[in-house]
Amino acid sequence: MIYRTLGKTGAEVSVVGVGTWQFGGEWGIDFRQKTVDSIFRTAKECGINLIDTAECYGDHLSESLIGTAIAEDRDDWFLATKFGHHFNGNFERSEPRSAVDVVKQLEDSLRALKTDVIDLYQYHSWGDDEIFADDVQAVLLKAKDQGKVRFLGNSVRGKGDSTDQIRQSSAQSIDAIQIVYNRLRREPEEGAFEICKQQNLGVLARVPLASGYLSGKYEPGHKFAGNEMRGKWHEDEQRDLWLAEVAVIQKEEVPDGVDMAQWAISWCLNHPAVTCVIPGVKNADQVRSNAAAVGLLE
Ligand SMILES: NC(=O)c1ccc[n+]([C@@H]2O[C@H](COP(=O)([O-])OP(=O)(O)OC[C@H]3O[C@@H](n4cnc5c(N)ncnc54)[C@H](OP(=O)(O)O)[C@@H]3O)[C@@H](O)[C@H]2O)c1
Repeated sequence: MIYRTLGKTGAEVSVVGVGTWQFGGEWGIDFRQKTVDSIFRTAKECGINLIDTAECYGDHLSESLIGTAIAEDRDDWFLATKFGHHFNGNFERSEPRSAVDVVKQLEDSLRALKTDVIDLYQYHSWGDDEIFADDVQAVLLKAKDQGKVRFLGNSVRGKGDSTDQIRQSSAQSIDAIQIVYNRLRREPEEGAFEICKQQNLGVLARVPLASGYLSGKYEPGHKFAGNEMRGKWHEDEQRDLWLAEVAVIQKEEVPDGVDMAQWAISWCLNHPAVTCVIPGVKNADQVRSNAAAVGLLE
């Protein structure tokens, strides 16, 4: 494994982390503790120390499965979670965002994760009109003072319109940004990454496999079940366009004999502004394969 400093946090994180939206039940699988345990056992064997989760991957369900899996060696992990959503059932969210709401979510996350401290506590896709609320910032800074949160982060919305928010990071005590970045979604190269470099912000590149499409295992026309995110939220037409683009990339850019998912991960990590990637996983084999992508780094 390779480790990099996560911006101003100063924390050394593995460049490949574990994304865990999958554990919440919206990816077609109801996860059992046994599978989650094996995922983190394998991650540790591979040298991975970074975990990304959220309050709304299930109602603190992903956090709870993780908390149990790492209860014995919590201090060996850099644990990132988020606030600003509430899970109301699969594919249903509300957005409780008052200061009182945030305090409640923090306590619920600490309880689910079975820990006294969250390493990186991230705004979860907040709009410009709400993210600068003074009373929310005050409760977050208080949580830092109390030792419940080590660092603040901002997981910006996936629409590529987040440069104004990112510019305010230092003033808001935000040390790391989480942003969609992959071979199909390169918007951060148009401004966001430059601001991150200027402010020494850590960058967690999320959705590095374009929701799995960049693994190269799906062809245009592939249908996903309605009980999983890709079948529920991605339009067939849009997916076919992405998969057609993937086929061209696979032919023109991925060297013969190289696993495309590993290539896609290393592609993200080769951008100098990116600290780490957090591919979502469904099993230990995917963790092992994703970790091995470091062998392809330039
Ligand atoms: N707003 C936010 O803050 C936000 C939003 C989205 C995601 N995230 C975070 O970012 C993480 C990553 O995003 P994501 O999970 O949506 O998308 P992703 O990482 O691009 O894709 C994950 C999917 O890729 C496939 N996969 C993973 N490893 C593979 C391998 N080695 N070989 C082949 N296929 C592989 C798996 O699906 P199949 O095997 O079924 O194809 C997996 O479910 C999330 O888990 C979450 O932690 C945050």
